[in-house]
Amino acid sequence: MVSPGRKKAELAASIDAALFREPLDLLYAEHYRQRIICNTLDAACGKRPVALSRAELRSIVEYLTIDLPLHIADEEEALFPLLEARCTEEDSAGDVIELLRAEHAADQALMAEAVAPLRAMAGGRTAVIADTARAHIRAMAEAQRRHLAWENSVVLPLAKRRLTDSDLVDLGRAMAQRRGITV
Ligand SMILES: [Fe+2]
Ligand SMILES: [Fe+2]
Repeated sequence: MVSPGRKKAELAASIDAALFREPLDLLYAEHYRQRIICNTLDAACGKRPVALSRAELRSIVEYLTIDLPLHIADEEEALFPLLEARCTEEDSAGDVIELLRAEHAADQALMAEAVAPLRAMAGGRTAVIADTARAHIRAMAEAQRRHLAWENSVVLPLAKRRLTDSDLVDLGRAMAQRRGITV
């Protein structure tokens, strides 16, 4: 499995720094990737499970343990504070952001339960996902999908309306720096 440090170095080498000039598009793209992974995990844990290769499992585990925490930090440490500073009372953003922060915290336990069996399969220590693990993985995927639906339908459209050009520069820079990229 790739270490967080090596993964960060790979990201820095592979991502075009210009992408960080459109940070909201990057967040939408990240949500799209998240949804694909949730769908793949559902298919792998459904009634007629679709088999995943060890390489696929490894890349899903890397996503869940390295990329997703970076994405959550982008939201908690950069996007949400900017929204809180810019939104007006009529936007009612406070309650949604509070809900999403609470979900980020609550999802950590669900994520740990889901990642453990996937990691075991990726490492070749087991060839099957036990029923309880399947239930955890499906619950995690469902929670992620619900969460990103809120972000796509409420938070990112609000960010498009309220963040200034200078906010977007700050957001893009913070996201790039988190991945060891200078813009
Ligand atoms: Fe989030
Ligand atoms: Fe998100």
